[in-house]
Amino acid sequence: GSAVHLGMLGFGTVGQAVARALVRRADDIARRTGHPIRLARIAVRDAARPRAGWPEGARLHTDPVELVEQADVQVVIEVMGGEEPALSAIRRALALGKPVVTANKLVMARHGATLLAMAHDHGVPLLFEAAVGGAIPIIRPIRESLASDRILGLAGILNGTTNFILTEMEESGTGFGEALERARSLGYAEADPQADLSGWDAAYKLAVLASIAFGGWLLPEAIHVTGLNGIEGRDIQYARELGLVVKLLASASSKDGRVEAWVGPALLARHHPLSQVRSVNNAILLSTEAAGELMFYGPGAGGDPTAAAVLGDVMDVASKGAGVREPNGGLVPPAGRRVEATDP
Ligand code: NAP
Ligand code: HSE
Repeated sequence: GSAVHLGMLGFGTVGQAVARALVRRADDIARRTGHPIRLARIAVRDAARPRAGWPEGARLHTDPVELVEQADVQVVIEVMGGEEPALSAIRRALALGKPVVTANKLVMARHGATLLAMAHDHGVPLLFEAAVGGAIPIIRPIRESLASDRILGLAGILNGTTNFILTEMEESGTGFGEALERARSLGYAEADPQADLSGWDAAYKLAVLASIAFGGWLLPEAIHVTGLNGIEGRDIQYARELGLVVKLLASASSKDGRVEAWVGPALLARHHPLSQVRSVNNAILLSTEAAGELMFYGPGAGGDPTAAAVLGDVMDVASKGAGVREPNGGLVPPAGRRVEATDP
């Protein structure tokens, strides 16, 4: 099939990993989706900074909305973060009938209801698997695989940075500040790490999960949020002596149409399944009416794992031809994802 041209907003930890994976996996992506996928345009804030790994032929922009409006941009990837101008760019893309893939939990938590309604009205997908749990498939399982079941509650570890810090402090006696610096240098933390430490990053993710799990849209302000600020090494060591583990938990449950949700530090027994979630990993426990307990686990942050989730969404759009338009306005036909046995 013809090439699908992407416009990507952001070339930081996640954006660069997306660009690398598009090169590394190019043949497989084209074979599975029926289309080669190319990065046509990329927006960054600082045009003057030299960029290692810049994809061949990709045009540089500094105005995200202007990038989205270019006729050759068929699918938009938003991996710049923050509320604005990310929100305006996503809205513009949807208004132009262009599919959007985003990793932005802040925008989805605050504006998910209106953005999904907009996407529906314009007949294009808005996909956000990477916004919660990094590489862990959780959005699609809740929206699709478990659609016939009823989710009663969910609990989990939704922030990689704080789980990494707690694990480093517990296992190696590393100080809080040093562990945070390591998390930042590994690309796990938000541009402003207070979003991780304050519990709000986890709260945005919880708002997204609770909204798709329970229906309606839970706004983040309805969540009671306590962060990790103030936790010291000795708190973690005392807990350890008592056979307990400190975790930053996120929890939501639905009863009689009311959703109760909170994020905060909690003491868990050493044998609790969530106590086994170490380092940058996340986990989500779902409690459902028909299936009972389900647990999802894996890397919750980091460039390559998150890029895998972003590209999974992009491939879904490309293989279904969902809303992907040719520059002349015609729709790219679905190629159908091909699953075939290959020689080892
Ligand atoms: P990052 O490393 O800080 O990169 C952000 C990129 O966006 C940079 O290239 C920056 O440009 C660009 N940008 C920011 N504001 C801009 C503006 N106003 N106009 C044009 N470009 C702008 O962030 P990241 O870690 O890749 O995260 C990106 C998104 O993915 C966020 O929503 C984050 O929450 C989400 N996410 C991150 C992870 C992770 O592990 N890092 C995991 C899951 C989800 P410059 O290069 O010029 O600064
Ligand atoms: N800062 C986030 C975290 C990135 O540490 O979990 C993944 O969303």
